[in-house]
Amino acid sequence: MTTKSIERFSFAERASHWTSALCFLYAAFTGLALWSPRLFWLSGVFGGGETVRAWHPWGGLFFFLALGVMFRRWARQMQLDEDDQVWLAKSHLYAQHIEAGIPESGRFNAGQKMMFWLQSASAFFLLLSGVVIWFPEFAPRPLRLGAILLHPVCAAVSMGGIMVHFYMSTMAVPGSMGAMVRGTVSAGWARSHHGKWFREMGGR
Ligand code: HEM
Repeated sequence: MTTKSIERFSFAERASHWTSALCFLYAAFTGLALWSPRLFWLSGVFGGGETVRAWHPWGGLFFFLALGVMFRRWARQMQLDEDDQVWLAKSHLYAQHIEAGIPESGRFNAGQKMMFWLQSASAFFLLLSGVVIWFPEFAPRPLRLGAILLHPVCAAVSMGGIMVHFYMSTMAVPGSMGAMVRGTVSAGWARSHHGKWFREMGGR
């Protein structure tokens, strides 16, 4: 391949990603405000307690829908193959920047795939439990109690995952932000981080 940059994400992919990221951040911060009195001050940033109580569920619902668009587009590409199993078994080497013996990645590496499934599963359970908490009058007491327990646990898992995702995409792997902002990466970036995908795209 002679061109210096390669399209990594289409406009539609970037739009659904950033919509879901914005909704996630809104739902996460308003959720934290509702969760603990110590964090209730956060509600002031988002229009006050009543506004936050009314809009947090909608933020969560829009997050779920935007993630659903990403899910439809990427679920097939996020299936783990045999190389991904090896990648996961050697992920401790990846974390130490030791690349020897780690299989080349396709469009997404196994860590990104695992993150995708973790976020999809936690979003699903956040929605289920969130709907129960949103309309408690329609749920029996044990279901309400289960939802009140499950919702913050899934939120914590999801937020922890996004912190890792944020770190990886802004600091650990320079060049990633360009992929999600401009939609393109350099040929060198593609070759070094996603070698199999680079060749599928015609790179040599
Ligand atoms: C909070 C701020 C966020 C930032 C700065 C961010 C940044 C990025 C970047 C730079 C990429 C491209 C990585 C690459 O080219 O390999 C990416 C990909 C992706 N993002 Fe985000 N993201 C954020 C939030 C989210 C949220 C909330 C979700 C969904 C729960 C999400 C899901 C994904 C997925 C599934 C991908 C493709 C696979 C991957 O790279 O992990 N992101 N993100």
